[in-house]
Amino acid sequence: MTTIGFIGAGEVGSQLARAFIAQGYEVVMANSRGPETLRALVAELGPAARAATAAGAAEAGDFVIIAAPLRLVDDLPVAELAGKIVLDTNNYMPYRDGHFAVVDSGEKTVHELRQEQLPHSKVAKAFSHIQAPRLFLSASPPGTPGRHALSVSSDHPEAVELVTRLYDELGFDTVDNSPLRESWRSGPGQPAWYAHAHQTREQLTANLARARWAGYPFRG
Ligand SMILES: NC(=O)c1ccc[n+]([C@@H]2O[C@H](COP(=O)([O-])OP(=O)(O)OC[C@H]3O[C@@H](n4cnc5c(N)ncnc54)[C@H](OP(=O)(O)O)[C@@H]3O)[C@@H](O)[C@H]2O)c1
Repeated sequence: MTTIGFIGAGEVGSQLARAFIAQGYEVVMANSRGPETLRALVAELGPAARAATAAGAAEAGDFVIIAAPLRLVDDLPVAELAGKIVLDTNNYMPYRDGHFAVVDSGEKTVHELRQEQLPHSKVAKAFSHIQAPRLFLSASPPGTPGRHALSVSSDHPEAVELVTRLYDELGFDTVDNSPLRESWRSGPGQPAWYAHAHQTREQLTANLARARWAGYPFRG
């Protein structure tokens, strides 16, 4: 049995947990307020789910999904995440997150910053350009004509390999948009982002290539 630790149990964390439980995974859910605030969600998710602190979820996970915005001063459980593959669903939304000067200037991507925050983990940008409800609505078996494709970015080939397998299990094709330096191509405001409702592997590949850097939108 594979256990997935979740740091972030909101819209995307809870929906990913539902999708992975349906595939036979166990999940350990964490948020910023503490496990006692996750009773209703864990009851809904059923016996394959439990709640923990963020450190507890990180420790329990064979791999971990961070489904929470990035903060520059962070409280992530760095030690418990060491040595693990960490999937990060985060999108930078300045109106919500504040402004990160190094990201606004194009010097770094938010996922490079996440990798810097977790120097002993293998970070992958994943599940970041699909709306939570579409994790079920857009899924289809391997080989389905026009199958919906998602991108992954990482500096670690084994993280890309894991995400590719997970996408396939959940019903999606993969386009590898590595390394993390290139991860802005699937970010807010880019063609791949606007086409999130449906894009095939070929369309996603073309949309990633069409990306142009003009700073992040949704500046607030
Ligand atoms: N919603 C989507 O469809 C979607 C799709 C793709 C990507 N994304 C991106 O994925 C991220 C999460 O989105 P969301 O819509 O799920 O947000 P959300 O509904 O607001 O949930 C955020 C979750 O993160 C938790 N959290 C925040 N900071 C934390 C910390 N330092 N430690 C532990 N837990 C923390 C929150 O806990 P508390 O509630 O206890 O504070 C909450 O459970 C965002 O960056 C978003 O842009 C969202």
